[in-house]
Amino acid sequence: MGKVAVGATVICVAAAAALLARHRMNCSGRWAKAMAILKDFEEKCGTPIGKLRQVADAMTVEMHAGLASEGGSKLKMLISYVDNLPTGDEKGLFYALDLGGTNFRVIRVLLGGQEGHVVKQEFEEGSIPPHLMTGSSNDLFDYIAEALAKFIATEDEGIHVSPGRQRELGFTFSFPVRQTSISSGNLIKWTKGFSIDDAVGQDIVGELTKAMDRAGLDMRVAALVNDTIGTLAGGRYSNKDVIAAVILGTGTNAAYVEQAHAIPKWHGLLPKSGEMVINMEWGNFRSSHLPLTEYDQALDAESLNPGEQIFEKVISGMYLGEIVRRVLCQMAEEADFFGDTVPPKLKIPFILRTPDMSAMHHDTSSDLRVVGNKLKDILEIPDTSLKMRKVVVKLCDIVATRGACLSAAGIVGILKKLGRDTVKDGEKQKSVIALDGGLYEHYTKFSACMESTLKEMLGKEVSENIIIELSNDGSGIGAALLAASHSQYLGMDESF
Ligand code: BGC
Repeated sequence: MGKVAVGATVICVAAAAALLARHRMNCSGRWAKAMAILKDFEEKCGTPIGKLRQVADAMTVEMHAGLASEGGSKLKMLISYVDNLPTGDEKGLFYALDLGGTNFRVIRVLLGGQEGHVVKQEFEEGSIPPHLMTGSSNDLFDYIAEALAKFIATEDEGIHVSPGRQRELGFTFSFPVRQTSISSGNLIKWTKGFSIDDAVGQDIVGELTKAMDRAGLDMRVAALVNDTIGTLAGGRYSNKDVIAAVILGTGTNAAYVEQAHAIPKWHGLLPKSGEMVINMEWGNFRSSHLPLTEYDQALDAESLNPGEQIFEKVISGMYLGEIVRRVLCQMAEEADFFGDTVPPKLKIPFILRTPDMSAMHHDTSSDLRVVGNKLKDILEIPDTSLKMRKVVVKLCDIVATRGACLSAAGIVGILKKLGRDTVKDGEKQKSVIALDGGLYEHYTKFSACMESTLKEMLGKEVSENIIIELSNDGSGIGAALLAASHSQYLGMDESF
């Protein structure tokens, strides 16, 4: 080889080495930048125990304010008109309709009183087509009423209502409703991606009843309940120590049993039981103590309900995956985390759902295969290194931990309001909280973190008396039970 050729080769090798070095520098620079974004996010999401105590205290304060007057707090503290929870005496055939998210359920329950309890139960599930979530009130209620009519048509010889009697329904409607009685109320606002303008302010039972008429159904709505109220009623039916219910699903909320005299804004007669179940609508809680980030602010600003449901937007299943997507997008845009271009799919809001986030978070394979596949299948990012996948898992952990810790703090807030956050004179009164919702049921790391945080906040002695009980779809049964205890045929001889 001539000198010139050797010289050229040397120059090429040197140039390649320089390029490689620059590339490495760039890569490590980008990586460092991505890690800085992650670290900053982690710090802002921090939930040290002191902060959680502040959140719990703020929850208690807001509960008092919401009970004192209408509009006294971001917590609506809605009166449910449920002043008697199921006793076990409920008898007969009742229906329930559960509408609270993208799925709905119709349920038929045969209640057999003290001896029989739930003799038979049948249900069918359907999903709400997305266009009905933002369409018109009539279209949504017609769709549901028709599904209900089809289900009723499957009533067989064995279980049917007595001739001449109207079928009765417990309607679980899981949105904020200002109730005017146990079986009537007006929608305050939509949440969880629903936005049907002509329904806001409307009498929800009236709307459903009109749709049932159009579908040729002769049915009476005997109880209108929130899913938290249904869960509390269903929980109490199987365990008399149930005092509160929490939903951790697409949305989040809590209900609890309050002393009626402790509700200044309740201007009705004091119920015989002295109690009233309150639907807190805690999803709308907000406080300066909440660890919020710029990602949460952007998510809120671009949502269908800006400024509303701030607690829900950091805790619930509808939003957790979306928060992860937003941080990943920032890392891709600012630090080329996924390479020189931002994967186009990563820019699509809500493309990363919480169940997918949960699957990634729970990935135990040594090469984080599930994470790799989710990134490939959902975000169309073909190649990711193990190092990158670990970062994604870490991100899921930060977001889920914050949500879980804050839900625990919310529960402590309720226990404080009820004076059940301390042990009085060796008293061993059990407090059971019925929990329901897909997030709690299926996102194990979330529920485990929520429960351990609750223990940590309450301390060993108190937490021995606080029991979290999964009430799987208890809200449907709960609504049927409340329909039974508010039946127009109550006291009459029941024959199935
Ligand atoms: C609604 C509540 C409901 C909760 C859980 C929230 O978005 O406002 O009424 O209980 O979701 O389904």
